[in-house]
Amino acid sequence: MVEINLLDRYPKSKRPIDERGELIKEEHRAVARKFGVEYYDGDRLTGYGGYNYHPRFWQETVKRFKEHYNLSESASILDVGCAKGFMLHDFKELMPEANMAGIDISQYAMDHALPSVRQYLQVGNAKKLPYPDKSFDLVICINTVHNLPLEECKQALREIERVSRGNSFVTMDAWRNDAERERLLKWNLTALTYMHVDEWKQLFKEIGYTGDYYWFIAE
Ligand SMILES: C[S@@+](CC[C@H](N)C(=O)[O-])C[C@H]1O[C@@H](n2cnc3c(N)ncnc32)[C@H](O)[C@@H]1O
Repeated sequence: MVEINLLDRYPKSKRPIDERGELIKEEHRAVARKFGVEYYDGDRLTGYGGYNYHPRFWQETVKRFKEHYNLSESASILDVGCAKGFMLHDFKELMPEANMAGIDISQYAMDHALPSVRQYLQVGNAKKLPYPDKSFDLVICINTVHNLPLEECKQALREIERVSRGNSFVTMDAWRNDAERERLLKWNLTALTYMHVDEWKQLFKEIGYTGDYYWFIAE
C-alpha cells in the first residue's frame, strides 16, 4: 500500500474554484449526480462542460501505469468509473494485446463511449463489481468511489481489492489542511465521501485495502 501520484503526467488545469463555488447550488449538484448528459456534455455548473477525448489527457499516464506496475503486453486492466472509456482507449493503443474492462454507473457515458473500446465497457455499480476474485492484473479507479456514500464507498474499495490480483490504484477527494478543505467543498459537485488524507489512510486500513492511492486536492 503506497501513496504515490501516478497522475503526475496528467495535464494540470487551472480551476476557477472561487468563481464556480459562488455559483454552484444544490440543484446543480442534484443534476450532476445523475451522471447524464448534463454532467458530461452540459453546462460547467453541472459537470465537465464537454467531456471529449484528447490524447494529451491519458497517453502519458497509461505509460506511467505500464512502467510502474511492470505490466505485460497481455495484462488485464479494469477501469472502475471509466466514463466514455478514454483511458482504456489509450491503454489499448499502447498495449493492443491487453485485456480491457471498464464499468461505470452512467448509461449516457456508455452510449457515448469511444467505439474503439465500447465492447469492453458495461454499466454497473462500483459497490458490486461483476467479476470473479483476482480477475485483473491492475484495477484503476480515478475520482469515482468518493461519489458513493461512506458505507458503499467502503464496499467499493473492498470490491476493488477482491477483483485485483495485487495491483490497484485509486484516487480520492481529500485535503491536507483547512484551506484545501474549503476549496474542495466549494469545487465539489458529486462526491458524497471526502475527508482528510489521514482519515482516508485509516479507512483503507480498516477495510483491508492494500492497493496504492493518491488524492484529488482542489488546488
Ligand atoms: C469524475 S468522473 C471520472 C471519470 C474518469 N475516471 C476520469 O478520470 O476521467 C466520475 C465517474 O464515476 C462514475 N460513477 C459515479 N458513481 C459510480 C458508481 N457507483 N459506480 C461506478 N461508476 C460511478 C460517473 O458516472 C463518472 O463517470
